[in-house]
Amino acid sequence: MYRTGSLPQVTLKWAQTLDGQLADDSDQSQWISGVEERRYTHRLRSIHQAILVGAQTFLKDLCQLTVRDIEFDGPQPARIIIDPRGRILKAL
Ligand SMILES: NC(=O)c1ccc[n+]([C@@H]2O[C@H](COP(=O)([O-])OP(=O)(O)OC[C@H]3O[C@@H](n4cnc5c(N)ncnc54)[C@H](OP(=O)(O)O)[C@@H]3O)[C@@H](O)[C@H]2O)c1
Repeated sequence: MYRTGSLPQVTLKWAQTLDGQLADDSDQSQWISGVEERRYTHRLRSIHQAILVGAQTFLKDLCQLTVRDIEFDGPQPARIIIDPRGRILKAL
């Protein structure tokens, strides 16, 4: 998410296998994307002010949601995690 005018700009981004899956069958996959795609993800993050994921994604992947692996000296985006049942606090 980033904001340039009066409305926020929202970018939806996900990785997907050729057969349309978002995670592997074992549910243990942290990444299903390749090195180039992940670098692109960090470029995308670098132009956004906040990154949003769901609670399960955060708990499974322990994602940092930071900009890494590219040249970047701007402020890190804010992390926003949707967690209506407080699952993260219970898991800590
Ligand atoms: N391939 C990719 O790019 C990619 C990206 C992200 C995630 N994933 C994978 O996808 C899997 C799970 O992701 P997920 O997005 O299904 O689960 P999630 O990370 O738990 O995100 C869904 C969140 O939205 C909340 N929610 C759902 N319906 C809602 C509603 N009607 N009102 C308010 N809140 C609502 C859920 O609440 P509750 O906590 O109450 O359930 C949950 O916290 C993981 O295996 C993850 O690794 C893949």
